[in-house]
Amino acid sequence: MAREQFADRLCQSMKKQGLKQVDVLNAAKQAGIKLAKGQMSQYVSGKAVPRENIGTFLAEVLQVSSDWLYGREITKESSDTKTSINVVAGKEQPESDDQVEDKEVMREFKKSTKLDNVLYDVRGPVVEEAARMEANGTHVLKLNIGNPAPFGFRTPDEVVYDIQRQITECEGYSASKGLFSARKAIMQYAQLKHIPNVTIDDIYTGNGVSELINLSMSALLDNGDEVLVPSPDYPLWTACVTLAGGKAVHYVCDEQSEWYPDIEDMKRKITDKTKAIVIINPNNPTGALYPKEILEQIVQVAREHQLILFSDEIYDRLVMDGEEHISIASLAPDLFCVTYSGLSKSHMIAGFRIGWMVLSGNKRIAKDYIEGLNMLSNMRICSNVPAQSIVQTALGGHQSVESYIVPGGRVYEQREYIYKALNDIPGISAVKPKAAFYIFPKIDTKKYNILDDERFALDLLREKKVLIVHGRGFNWGEPDHFRVVYLPRIEVLEDAVGKISDFLTTYRQF
Ligand SMILES: Cc1ncc(COP(=O)(O)O)c(C=O)c1O
Repeated sequence: MAREQFADRLCQSMKKQGLKQVDVLNAAKQAGIKLAKGQMSQYVSGKAVPRENIGTFLAEVLQVSSDWLYGREITKESSDTKTSINVVAGKEQPESDDQVEDKEVMREFKKSTKLDNVLYDVRGPVVEEAARMEANGTHVLKLNIGNPAPFGFRTPDEVVYDIQRQITECEGYSASKGLFSARKAIMQYAQLKHIPNVTIDDIYTGNGVSELINLSMSALLDNGDEVLVPSPDYPLWTACVTLAGGKAVHYVCDEQSEWYPDIEDMKRKITDKTKAIVIINPNNPTGALYPKEILEQIVQVAREHQLILFSDEIYDRLVMDGEEHISIASLAPDLFCVTYSGLSKSHMIAGFRIGWMVLSGNKRIAKDYIEGLNMLSNMRICSNVPAQSIVQTALGGHQSVESYIVPGGRVYEQREYIYKALNDIPGISAVKPKAAFYIFPKIDTKKYNILDDERFALDLLREKKVLIVHGRGFNWGEPDHFRVVYLPRIEVLEDAVGKISDFLTTYRQF
């Protein structure tokens, strides 16, 4: 009860002061108070009450009395009248006894504890701060989200034309896995990628790959099951494993080796609870593309330990330098594999919400799991039907994305620019991305005395109005990386890099 009351009052005062957890953590850091993110979220969720010194600090920051925060109400006896004083946000509000009795305690609703360890900082606290700044009229240079359309990448005309023509035929629900025409086109695409043993029944369309990642983790995992997920990762994977009750165990991708997965680390992290390996190829946030030898080694690990392979290949058509993307499922006909892709990135229609997953290889061993997938797929009824209606158009014929990823094309030239420009900043080094539109540079944390990369992102945002995502937002263990989305035009990237460079000339964290 005391914990809940403390949490209620803490949240109430933070709201009143317009402060988020990250702001309080930053204030603690500045004041030299040891307050970890985990502790703070325990106080906010009512799982723990802080010690007196932290409580006093919180009360000061939130401009309330610590007695009130801890629920130690002050009763003042005056000589003639008995008045109870409720101290609310630093203001004393005298109330008569009657008023106190009549006052109804409002029930508050908290988020589920299932979300306690779930992180999705691509749209997290730094982005919230950027939104606040924009609401106050500040222009923010956004290099934080892989959403092509706002940067002038147009949807292919044929896709727009076809969705318009078909819209009146898309008013009802479709079959839960999707329209036949869409799934047939995806099946043929899987054939071109040499993915074995795929029938039309093995294809599920989703409201983006995002929905299918969530669905496939929910259908698989029991509490405590482990899934090997890359570090850095696209954080939705870790989040969905966690939300499904599983444990995301991170294997390292090695910056010294083109950000390829460290196979030895992967092997070390396998236990008797491990059920699957996730790979993201091409990779977000590093832009890496895995060669056949690496993929074969991963297949071998999965084979030896009887693991499922989940391969997120949403950037498979954004590969540069004449390289070829290989689907890992094509190398693993004897294993059960799930391959994910979609149109958000290659067709610049992230807003349409259309993606898919393809089951392949040894499906016999996953019969029961597939039943679970079907149950969850049926329960969400179906994916966006107008978006499904253009899958066939999008996957067939001329692929306009190809003109972006060759010399002279926007994605290619922007990659060339950002790679060089970032590496020219003293203390910044980056591996050249081969695919997608992300780069994951390293900061010399000693040079800049950086201990907290989220703080770095916030300081950069507040001072230079440039929004990046800090590396730990991608489940990277050290505060020494950040991700830049290089979708904006070169002039805009020049402006952004100039500002980052300028910022770093004087920036020191402590
Ligand atoms: C690796 C990866 N997978 C999945 C997604 C989500 O894609 P969708 O728009 O299909 O939900 C993203 C989006 O950025 C991504 O980077």
